[in-house]
Amino acid sequence: MRTQVAIVGAGPAGLMLSHLLHRSGIDSVVVERRSREYVEQRVRAGVLEQGTVDLLRELGVSEGLDREGLVHRGIELLFDGTAHRIPMSDLTGGRAITIYGQQHVVRDLTEARLAAGGQIYFEADDVAVSGVDTAAPRVTFTVDGRREELLCDIVAGCDGFHGVCRDVLPGSGRHLLEREYPFGWLGILAAVPPSADELIYGHHERGFALASLRSPTISRLYLQVDPHEDLANWSDRRIWDELATRLAHDRWTLAEGPILEKSITPMRSFVCEPMRHGRLFLAGDAAHIVPPTGAKGLNLAVHDVYVLAEAVADWYRTGSDTPFDTYSARCLRRVWRVQHFSWWMTSMLHRFPGHDAFEQRLQRSQLEYVVGSPAAATTLAENYVGLPWS
Ligand code: APR
Ligand code: PHB
Repeated sequence: MRTQVAIVGAGPAGLMLSHLLHRSGIDSVVVERRSREYVEQRVRAGVLEQGTVDLLRELGVSEGLDREGLVHRGIELLFDGTAHRIPMSDLTGGRAITIYGQQHVVRDLTEARLAAGGQIYFEADDVAVSGVDTAAPRVTFTVDGRREELLCDIVAGCDGFHGVCRDVLPGSGRHLLEREYPFGWLGILAAVPPSADELIYGHHERGFALASLRSPTISRLYLQVDPHEDLANWSDRRIWDELATRLAHDRWTLAEGPILEKSITPMRSFVCEPMRHGRLFLAGDAAHIVPPTGAKGLNLAVHDVYVLAEAVADWYRTGSDTPFDTYSARCLRRVWRVQHFSWWMTSMLHRFPGHDAFEQRLQRSQLEYVVGSPAAATTLAENYVGLPWS
């Protein structure tokens, strides 16, 4: 088999890239380890920046998003029992975020790609990438017991944090920068209408909590927990009680309902520099991870593949290597802005084991400043809705 761009991974990054390339008349094949059902049902984040929404519309993949996406123009920061609204749209010239589950983005992108004749291999085992130092890279994998070989010009490593592509970059030229946080998030999906109109980010002495949603009938909520916490210790009763305690304030009562899904995710910040080696380009979670407090993971992945699709199209058009040589630096500028924002939100809102009274006072002062100063609130708002793409 031959294609122009071999894409490893059918998450938001890989699928979006395949669409963008198709729009420029460039052929690609996507190779995914999991089944289609698994990928489309995996519950992940659900906050889309304005730029992500605009791009999905431009690509003609926004029918579900336009029907079911919920536009949000503000968020609430809750501390000391009082909620303070950050009017994001007012502070950013009308920009907003849209709530739409990542698995729905993946479902819509997959459907549209297959309908347009795109090729996606699901349940591909033993995916291996080679020859990226040459002009003839290849991706090999096994489907239905058959070994397949995909010859290509370019490999896009869109295979997430646990993928194989990042390890193809030689250790000597690769720099991994990382922070682990001393906590994780226990997330639930519950069949109950959201108790508030906007997302509530709650700072509490027992730990951070977040009230989000997926639809008018489905709530999504999170609790800060120990990263090694056993889910078995968290009965539904305990989860609801803890959420009610941490999110208590004067303007709402938390409504409870059946819990449909629960999981615990560790929190980390991670960047692999550079994001390219030869003909291999990393994009999305394969290259970087942000803690979910800023709701940025998917949006950052979309920015990477937008830059990559442009670079690939320029390379085919001009034959010059310049677009390839600048790919990593162009992506990393935004990656580090988003890393900082996500780290800052995480630091401001969580309870850090080991922090003393001095650090707790600093945290409180930061929260008071953000909700009290229009300049500080604008800093949060413009990063949250997404800074313009350069
Ligand atoms: N071969 C083929 N596919 C693989 C391999 C492999 N060896 N390893 C992983 N994959 C697949 C995964 O099954 C997954 O479907 O690559 C895909 C990567 O998708 P994501 O993890 O969703 O990463 P990405 O597309 O970069 O999207 C970033 O996802 O994790 C969230 O918070 C993150 O919202 C952000 C978004
Ligand atoms: C979510 O709805 O899953 C969500 C919302 C906001 C975040 C993280 C996750 O910061």
